This record gives sequence, C-alpha cells and structure tokens, in this order.
Amino acid sequence: MKNSWTKTKFYMLMSVLAIFLAGCGKENLSALQPAGEVGRQQFFLIILSISIMLLVVGTVAIAFTIAVVKSRRSKVGEDFVPKQVAGNHTLEVIWTTIPIILLIILAIPTVWVTFTLADVEDMVTEDGVANKDSVIVNVTAYQYWWEFEYVHENVVTSQDLVVPTDEKVFFNLKGADVKHSFWVPAAGGKLDTNVDGINSFYLVFDDDKAENADRLFYGKCAELCGPSHALMDFKVVALPRAEFDQWLADMKVYEEEAKVASADDAKEGQEIFNNSCIGCHAVTPTNPGAAGPNLTNFGDRELIAGILEHNKENLVSWIKDPEKIKPDNKMTGAYQLNDEEIDKVAAYLMELKLDKNSGDVEKMKKEIESEKNEDNDEGGDK
Ligand code: CUA
Repeated sequence: MKNSWTKTKFYMLMSVLAIFLAGCGKENLSALQPAGEVGRQQFFLIILSISIMLLVVGTVAIAFTIAVVKSRRSKVGEDFVPKQVAGNHTLEVIWTTIPIILLIILAIPTVWVTFTLADVEDMVTEDGVANKDSVIVNVTAYQYWWEFEYVHENVVTSQDLVVPTDEKVFFNLKGADVKHSFWVPAAGGKLDTNVDGINSFYLVFDDDKAENADRLFYGKCAELCGPSHALMDFKVVALPRAEFDQWLADMKVYEEEAKVASADDAKEGQEIFNNSCIGCHAVTPTNPGAAGPNLTNFGDRELIAGILEHNKENLVSWIKDPEKIKPDNKMTGAYQLNDEEIDKVAAYLMELKLDKNSGDVEKMKKEIESEKNEDNDEGGDK
C-alpha cells in the first residue's frame, strides 16, 4: 500500500515536471537552445555555474553520507569521541582555498563574457555617429506593446521585430512609461528598458537556428509592468540579409503616403480609422513615439495585440473590448465605434500589407527554401 502511494507520488511529480520542462526544448523560445553567439556564451555560463554547484553539492552529500553511515553509535560505541579538529590550521586553509578557486573559475569567464556582450562599439563610427554598416534598432517599450525604429532607415514598426540573421543586431532600449525588460530568450538574456537613460546591447540570430525555429522567435517583457505584463509579447522574424533588406525597402515605400484600401468595406473602414484611430496609430512607417502601435504592415503581422492568432475575428473582438483581452491597456475607452464600424475598420487593417508580400513570413520562408534548394541542385551538378 505504502509502496504504491510512493509510486503514485513519483508519477505525479514526473508528469508535473514533464509539463513544465516541455517548454525548455522549443527552438523559438528556449534559452537552453541558444540561437546565436550571445545566447551560446550565456548558456556556457549557465552550464559552468550549474556544474560547479553540482560538484559542491555532490561532494558535501557524499561526505555527509559517509559520516552518517560510518559513525553510527551502534558501530563506534556509546563512549566514542571523534578526533577534535577545531582550529586545525591545514583544514582551515583547505576549506578556505577551495571556494576561492571555484569562485575564480566562475568569475573569469563571467566577467569576460559580460564585457564582451556589453561591447557596442560597432554601433558608432570613430566620429561618434551611428555606424551605417550596423543594423541598429531603437526599442521603446510601452504598456503593453513594443515599438521598433530602424535607425538608418527611418522605418518604424511595432510588435513584429524583423532582423537579419548571421550578424550583430544592435538595440537601444528605453521605456516610455514604466520600466519593462526586453527579452528574446533563445537569442540572449534580458535587458531592462528604463524610463531614464538608454541601455544598449546586441543579439545574434544564426540563420540555421532561425530556420529550425520557423524564422519566428518569441519575445517577452520580463519586468512586472502592470496587469497585462504577462501578455506583453512580441515576435522576432529572423531573415537572411537579402530578404531583410527587401522588407526594409518595401516598408520605405510607404514613407510618402498611406496605402489606399481596395475593398469597399475596407475603404469605409479607412475613413472611420482616419476619423477615430489615426490620432494614436500611424499607418506610415516614419513616425516613432505615437500613442499606439504603428500599423503600417498590420496585415502581415503574426499576432493580434501580441497574443491572439492573426485573423479578422480576433481583430474585431480586440477592437470591441480590448480591456477583456489585455487589462489596463491604453486603447480601452479611447474611441466609440459600433459593431458595423468595427468590422469595417478590421477589414481595412487586415489589408495593410506590404506590396509583393515581402512582409509575409510564410511566403518568405518558402522563397528562402526554394533558393536554398536551387543552390543545392547546382552544387549537385558539379
Ligand atoms: Cu512590460 Cu512587463
């Protein structure tokens, strides 16, 4: 009876662990499957510190077990007094030196990696201006969404961060209202977005790792910032440099004027949008610092409000009652639209896609794949 209860407890523990650890293996989300140089170096530090910790815990556990087993009263007798070692010089030197050595082993790579990862020198040229050769993104965190501004391109987007693979991508982080924290677990550790002052760092996304992750990494806010903190997600679309450049170029097409809707309900939706929504949401990619997310390429996005599957039904329910989906968000109560109007605005927003579908991740993935296959075929002919 007792045995079967122990077994049941064991299986219960295992199933709970299985649920929690299932997330650890995902290429698009897990810090344990680093997707680039930064993540890999940090993963090395994790393994190093856990190994040292296990070594210490293991040694102490073994010494303890030996002491308990060998020194039982039944074995050594009631009157036995162990050898007294208090004040033993040799022993004190040994157990002072070992922790110092372990800390040195831990400290050297930690300090080295910390300084390496904080090196954002490539962001500026010798003259102190932003380096044109580097991709630099200004990230601004708002309750509860993200704005991304591509420094050299004068392009602003939100919620979906598009980055090139196999190179350093530099980030300047700041918070617009309260402190948030920018975190792409697979690519590297989190960094705070402060209201005063800018934090800079870089991440690297390996192209093969991006391919394994279906070219979409998960991004999170990692600092408690209000009721919807846990819903403050974003996506990172990691593309080869050529596709990234194409995406940027297509975004810039909208510099001059906003796209005109084509379907009839979308056209009406655009009018309603221009009367009720444009005060907060830009539909051209050049205005950072708006009150709400930039919607230039909204139709291409991966998610609605960062958390819902990207379809019109979800968009309609989001506009209808944002408070229900993201409590404390700033859109609640900012407009008054009836169901018909909301439906039309949604139709308009779903039309906001980049020309040639260069913002369409699915399509881009297919193109990249077929290019690779062609390369492979050519290689095979030789
Ligand atoms: Cu923003 Cu938590």
